[in-house]
Order: sequence, then structure tokens, then C-alpha cells
Amino acid sequence: MSAALLAWYDRHARTLPWRVPPDQRAAGVLPDPYRVWLSEIMLQQTTVPHAAPYFLRFTQTWPTVADLAAAPDAEVMAAWAGLGYYARARNLLRCARAVAEDHGGRFPDREDALRELPGLGPYTAAAVAAIAFDRPAAVMDGNVERVVSRLFAVETPLPASKPELRVLTARLTPMTRPGDHAQAMMDLGATICTPRSPACVLCPLRDPCAARAAGIADTLPRKAPKAAKPTRRGTVFVAVSPSGALLLETRPETGLLGGMPGLPGTGWDLRGAGESPPSDREVAEAAPLSADWRRIPSQARHVFTHFQLILDIMVARTAEESRPVRGAFVPRARAQADRLPTVMKKALLLGLSALEA
Ligand code: ADE
Repeated sequence: MSAALLAWYDRHARTLPWRVPPDQRAAGVLPDPYRVWLSEIMLQQTTVPHAAPYFLRFTQTWPTVADLAAAPDAEVMAAWAGLGYYARARNLLRCARAVAEDHGGRFPDREDALRELPGLGPYTAAAVAAIAFDRPAAVMDGNVERVVSRLFAVETPLPASKPELRVLTARLTPMTRPGDHAQAMMDLGATICTPRSPACVLCPLRDPCAARAAGIADTLPRKAPKAAKPTRRGTVFVAVSPSGALLLETRPETGLLGGMPGLPGTGWDLRGAGESPPSDREVAEAAPLSADWRRIPSQARHVFTHFQLILDIMVARTAEESRPVRGAFVPRARAQADRLPTVMKKALLLGLSALEA
């Protein structure tokens, strides 16, 4: 099966900014482990089209892992803004520094040693071992789970089927070209073996595919129903000075969006916090300065991995001499919304449009 898949990949591999295409790989070009690792961390977070510009910006700014390791935390966090899940950006830096300091600037070339690095779970360690070092590691992401579920008609729902899928993925992994094989599985899942309406007539594995033979390809993988996400509530403050400066603060290092710039507000990121809106007293205590605060009708909504967040927004124009008890006024030009985490950007833009209406 892998031979058929690799022949397909040789003709149809997607062109991706971090990828060494199969013809170049065959000619002996080796992937840069730094670029492979960086792309895999980004792609755990988001889609190929969304990740690509981030990948290009990161690799232009920090062409090697040593450059990234030497970068100031705040610059890396700011460059990550918009990719979400900031714990990953902090682990990215910790990993770059571990590689620079403990491994002489070279990524380890084995799956078990990669697993020891900060932020490298089973998926990333296997992907880097396979793609960067051509190790026959079993690489299983969501795309691969789908392809393998269908190929072997696994009807056990996810996530219970994962151990079985892992065994099958390992069994499919060849000793020759394991890096291209892993990328081919991902490309097949992304372009042919898609969640809905898979293009089975174009698939290089249509003959051996058990789900296709049984006519159930588009019903797999089955999934156990997900528990609904809980809702958390909070309130943030949008303050604008007469010169147009905006009040921002750096969030505490620990907790969600840790170390990122944000709007001052009530807590919402602690476990179990705020299922109902914060009380008037909590809101008053969180106010960064005394001003004529007004609650606007719009709310900023954002879905995190484990909960959805609804932020109420208080707005005020302040007197220039106002001294905030938390955060600092930042000239509008420096408070570029694109450096803020997405939920903060949403709240800021809603607050500003209410103030300017
Ligand atoms: N998705 C995650 N990693 C990928 C890769 N290396 N190639 C294609 N799609 C991917």
C-alpha cells in the first residue's frame, strides 16, 4: 500500500513552504529539522493556509533554532499572536532554548530523544523523526486517523479506537522513505480522503480500502459524542485617553494567554471560574482606573479548547492625567490590534467602535 501511496505522492505532493518536495528529497536534499519542527508545532494549532504566513515570518525573522532561542520572549509571543493557545508559544521557546543549550543547536534525530524536548508530544516527536530524519516512526494526526480508519474499516468510535489505529498506522509505515510516507498520508487525508465526500475515485488506495468496499467510507471515523463546552464569563475594560492611547496590560505568565498583552479585566481563566457574569462588585474591583465606565451592548465571544468565553465590555474616555492601577497607556500606533490575542482584539475593536460611534 505504501508503494502505491508514494507513487501518488511523487505526482501530487502539495507544495508547502516547509516541505522538501519528493523529487528534491530523492536528489538528496535533506529537510531542515528546525523548519520541520516549527511547522509541526504551528500545524497542531491551525490549518495549512493559516499557518503558512506565520511560518514564513518566523523563519525570516529567526532563520535557525539558535536565532529563535536568542529572541526576546515578548517578540516571539507577539509574532505568535493570532495562532492561539499561547502555552504552545512558550513551549516553542523553551524547546528552542533546550536545543540550543543542551544539544549544541541540533535537534536530536531519534523519536525517544525528541520526546524529551519541551512541547513535543507523541505526534510531534514522531513527525519530526520521520520527516526530518527519515525514521520509520508512526505519525498519526487527525488526517491519518481518518485515512487509517477507512482503509481498515475501523468502526470503533474515536477516541476509543486510537490504540488500534496506532498499531495499524505503525504497520503501514515503510522502512523506505518513511518521511515521504508520513507526509503522503497527511496529504491524502487533506485532499482526497476528506471528512465529507471523500474523492475515492482519485485515491491511490481505493482498491485495498475496506471502507470503500463496504460503502461506508464517508461514515468513518465514527466519533463518540462530545460533551458540550462550558461557558465562562468575564468583563474587560477599554479605556481611551484624550490623545487616543489605549490601556493595555501584560497578562500574568501563568494561566491562559499567559505573558500576552491584554485588556485589563476580571478573572475568567481559572478552573471553574465565572460560569455566571462577574458581579457588579467584582467588575468595580477590577476597574483599572476610576472613570465614567459604560457597559456596551456587544460582547466578545471566543471558543477555547475547553470552554467558550463571553466577555462583557466596559468603555470609557479618560482624562489625560488618569493614573491606572493596572496596565499602562500605549499610543494607539503601538497598540496594534494584530499583536493582541484574538479574543482581546475582538473586545478592543468592539469597545473602540462603541466609543467612536
Ligand atoms: N499537517 C501537519 N503536518 C503536515 C505536514 N508535514 N504536511 C502536510 N500536512 C501536515
